[in-house]
Amino acid sequence: MSVQSTIKRKTAPEIRARKGGDPVVMLTSYHAHTAALVDRYCDVILVGDSLGNVMHGFETTVPVTLDMMILQGRAVMRGSKEAMVVVDMPFGSYEASKEQAFHSAVRIMKESLCGGVKLEGGVKMAETIRFLTERGVPVMGHIGLTPQSINTLGSFRAQGREESDWAPIEADARAVAEAGAFSVVIEAVAEPLAAKITKDIAIPTIGIGASAACDGQVLVLEDMLGLSPWAPKFVKRFGDLGPGIEAAIRDYASEVRSRAFPGPQHVYGMKAKS
Ligand code: KIV
Repeated sequence: MSVQSTIKRKTAPEIRARKGGDPVVMLTSYHAHTAALVDRYCDVILVGDSLGNVMHGFETTVPVTLDMMILQGRAVMRGSKEAMVVVDMPFGSYEASKEQAFHSAVRIMKESLCGGVKLEGGVKMAETIRFLTERGVPVMGHIGLTPQSINTLGSFRAQGREESDWAPIEADARAVAEAGAFSVVIEAVAEPLAAKITKDIAIPTIGIGASAACDGQVLVLEDMLGLSPWAPKFVKRFGDLGPGIEAAIRDYASEVRSRAFPGPQHVYGMKAKS
């Protein structure tokens, strides 16, 4: 007999059903303790491949591996209880064929126990998205600025600034939605285009630097906490943790240097030897 959990996590169909309703609240997390905090307030926790930048100090997400994503996905699943956890498919783990994508997605889902995967690309990835969703893998799309393509894009510039650039991005959004994705991240896209896409497609759009016209928003947790040394201009800082953490470390170092740290007699009530 199976053991049923009393707390039910949010599912892909529930997120899909939020189209045009309550905004979808999403943040990244890569580890158990922050996942527990994010879980209290967010519908979706994204184990983003931005962990390559945030945790590992890479300049891009290109070096991130499937094993890195699975390890942190497992940690986030252990730390959270109610949010849907979506794990990014890293560069090189899904583009070669739909079969490659399926094998990578199955590894992510079996080994991390997450509720779905996210992959970058629109029209070009539509066949793969359909293949995955028809085989039991919930897929979140990601269009607009796709950071894994940095080496062909050349820069992390906002997309669709001129109306003449809109058509391919709109086609990407339609392709992802029609292929069966349950939602789509739209990154660094001008507000009028984000609004048009949100009106045109049947699945929730989750913006990052794409305005409140979207059906929800995602940010990188460390960026909005003020912990990242650098964050994109569109990120509103809801905290200023970097300086606070530095001050605590500075105070600690100064206490240790002045030998002001307590011994076991203070901590455990032991008598000091005379
Ligand atoms: O990797 C990530 O954190 C992401 C978000 C920026 C959407 O893909």
